[in-house]
Amino acid sequence: MSTASTPPIDATTTPSWADLTAHQAALTPDLRAWFAQDPGRAARLTFDAADLHVDLSKNLVTDETIALLVRLAQDVDLAGRRDAMFRGDHINVTEDRAVLHTALRRPSGASPALTVDGQDVDADVHGELAKVYAFAEKVRSGKWTGVTGERVRTVVNIGIGGSDLGPVMAYEALLPYKAEDLDVRFVSNIDPTDVAEKTAGLDPRTTLFIVASKTFGTLETLTNARLARDWLWTELAAVDALDDSEEARTAAVGKHFVAVSTALDKVAAFGIDPANAFGFWDWVGGRYSVDSAIGTSLAIAIGPARFEEFLAGFHAIDEHFRTTPIEQNVPALMGLLNVWNVNFLGAHTHAVLPYAQYLHRFPAYLQQLTMESNGKSVRWDGSPVTTETGEVFWGEPGTNGQHAFYQLIHQGTRLVPADFIAVANPAHPLVDTAAGDEPVDVHSLFLANFFAQTKALAFGKTADEVRAEGTAEDLVSARVFSGNRPTTSILAPALTPSVLGQLIALYEHITFVQGVVWGIDSFDQWGVELGKKLANEIAPAVTGDAAALAAQDPSTQALIGWYLEQRS
Ligand code: F6P
Repeated sequence: MSTASTPPIDATTTPSWADLTAHQAALTPDLRAWFAQDPGRAARLTFDAADLHVDLSKNLVTDETIALLVRLAQDVDLAGRRDAMFRGDHINVTEDRAVLHTALRRPSGASPALTVDGQDVDADVHGELAKVYAFAEKVRSGKWTGVTGERVRTVVNIGIGGSDLGPVMAYEALLPYKAEDLDVRFVSNIDPTDVAEKTAGLDPRTTLFIVASKTFGTLETLTNARLARDWLWTELAAVDALDDSEEARTAAVGKHFVAVSTALDKVAAFGIDPANAFGFWDWVGGRYSVDSAIGTSLAIAIGPARFEEFLAGFHAIDEHFRTTPIEQNVPALMGLLNVWNVNFLGAHTHAVLPYAQYLHRFPAYLQQLTMESNGKSVRWDGSPVTTETGEVFWGEPGTNGQHAFYQLIHQGTRLVPADFIAVANPAHPLVDTAAGDEPVDVHSLFLANFFAQTKALAFGKTADEVRAEGTAEDLVSARVFSGNRPTTSILAPALTPSVLGQLIALYEHITFVQGVVWGIDSFDQWGVELGKKLANEIAPAVTGDAAALAAQDPSTQALIGWYLEQRS
């Protein structure tokens, strides 16, 4: 049984790794031939997980590759580590914490109950959810009012990283489910432009700020929260809704600010009544927290019932991941394929290409999830990693990406594995009646691109096919597509709250699988600390402290000097 203190197994020393290395050396990927010779390939390599229909067949793998990757999973005890996570072992070793985002979406009354480190996790999760839901209902119904008694029309979520990316991505993805009379805006960057732009045009009487910060110590968030508080006081005074007394200001904060945090003492110190604060726990990583109280802005926007569906979607994939044999386990297979692509085929990046406009922030969300989790050079016992780790995740919605960077994916020298994501039923089934003789269902046209791209990437176009089109010989090579560019296609019936939860959980578990193979702690993020510390140290130099400036290295000194000269 794997426990938190179990040292990582060095995947590169396992028999399956050696076999994968030999297998790769002997393998000449040929998707054309593989599909031509094997009519069952597509069906055999397509899997369903909850509502997700996932076709892995256009990856550069044979049945033997998959079998070896499954053996690799066994050799590194993926199942043991997975079970340790679900059980609440402290698998976040460097922070000595359990990793229990899966507990956030366990249904009420799940059996057996989950008790971890003496905490009745289920009771706490559902207790806090009930508070979030009650608050969301109050805001949605207009029972929650600002200082003038007016209901809330705009919620502004102030947070960064996991306290922003999940909520904003999910809000954008689920816009069709949003209450019509409520909008949510998101402030994250400490660039003062962000708070200025996001408060522009708002009526302070109908604006509610949610300060979302796990630690309640993040410089960006606390600075933005103070700026927002100043804005509120100034703007309320401007409409004669606030006198200049301390009591009135405190009361205004009470009516227009709530918080989400694990540090309720710091919430109180900021001036927000802890009664208006929603909590979560240190076993929820920031980038795994959209399904906790960090999702309060989303719960307000879509309502508790839809939020419950969102959580149920996560849970469906959790159950799939927890109980399905690795051979059919979609997150496990996708994580193992990523390992194959990175460690055996030499891929450095991974594109995520949603053919769903509402998922336009999904790649940005995944960047934190995957790269903050797996961008590590040491293993969970502190020893150096023994192979390449986290790839760069990136992407844009199709078809925009097609007209920007797909050139490189099709014909460049680099291997860029890509996930294509689409839904069968759009929120807006528009028909173009003026395109030609027949009306055109625009979503079908859109998805024709989705299907065409993965086909072109897999099968390419040979020189003979190019010649057969009558291309002049000197242009043939420029028009050849090599094919054998790996893709995974993920389809869902529609972008519902549940499907969004499923997609997020899918990528959470893919990330976990890769981390287990590499032996790294996917749940800490020490790599963001140094920059934060230095920003604090450098701040005096940037604001005119000559001694602090003199203490900087020559390049930094010169850059700050130039900035100070230019700054009016
Ligand atoms: O950037 C580091 C980080 O700690 C992320 O992991 C986290 O999501 C983000 O900062 C915000 O942290 P907090 O929610 O504590 O403000």
